[in-house]
Amino acid sequence: MFAMRAKDLYDVNDLCHEEVMEIFEESKEIKKAYLRGEKIFSLSDKTGCNLFVEPSTRTKNSFELAEKYLSMNVLNFNTSSSAFSKKETLKDTILTMKSMKIDLFVVRHKEPGTPVFIRKYSDASIINAGDGLHAHPTQAILDAFTMYENFNSFKGLKVSIIGDFYHSRVVRSNIKLLNMLGADVTICSPTTLSPREIRTLPIKYTYDLKEAIKNADVVMGLRMQLERQSQGLFPSLKEYNKYFGIKEELFETLANKNAILMHPGPINRGVELSGDIADKPYSKILDQVQNGVITRIALIKHLLGGDSL
Ligand code: CP
Repeated sequence: MFAMRAKDLYDVNDLCHEEVMEIFEESKEIKKAYLRGEKIFSLSDKTGCNLFVEPSTRTKNSFELAEKYLSMNVLNFNTSSSAFSKKETLKDTILTMKSMKIDLFVVRHKEPGTPVFIRKYSDASIINAGDGLHAHPTQAILDAFTMYENFNSFKGLKVSIIGDFYHSRVVRSNIKLLNMLGADVTICSPTTLSPREIRTLPIKYTYDLKEAIKNADVVMGLRMQLERQSQGLFPSLKEYNKYFGIKEELFETLANKNAILMHPGPINRGVELSGDIADKPYSKILDQVQNGVITRIALIKHLLGGDSL
């Protein structure tokens, strides 16, 4: 057992290696039960509040499904349907929800550090569901679990991540977690999309796509964040695709025999992924989505505790 079990998840390093592996083993059991349509845990005395002040399809819906699987009371917030639209501050929103007795806040916000800010006003558990460019720890957990399902070990696993690292909170959390688990990480992008802060982490950096894909076990594309590209960091999407788009032929000839393709989504077809590579049998993109539900069930149970049924 752990000296101190985490209560909050601001980023992946709030969990130790043993906790991550416990979440993965629990996720395997939950997945079997989930696919059989059975529930094996209950948190029916707990209330979760999903506070999404930035768009989301995968993360928001999978947290909601995870909480419902655990029989929790679920409250959903978004910008347009809440008093945020009447300019209520985040502090007053948290104090208001706290008085309704919330046990868990799941927070997505464009400002880095928002989950830590919420801690000042609430004793509930807090899960960061993506804060600006800072972190997206539950995406890293579901990504690593998908790798674990396919390879059963991280030792020497060659993971190549290709895309826009400048704007990616996903890659920041993924690198930390994959380093903790013992994988070998290579990142590949135009230098303008790869800030020094990322390149100086314990990873290999290349701007040569073929070098990145060669002998990789996992090839992960990252979304070109079109809504965050105002600095002209690359000439055009067409040119990006020409040099950095992941193509079937490159994947099938250069990556290792049982290699898998991953992408956290949402995907831009024809930009970071060429042709119909996203639909190939080696693409695990939809498995990642399903594992998002499963690992979030396991994570909430881990943070809040939970009774076996
Ligand atoms: N991967 C991810 O965070 O997707 P959403 O923005 O749809 O939640």
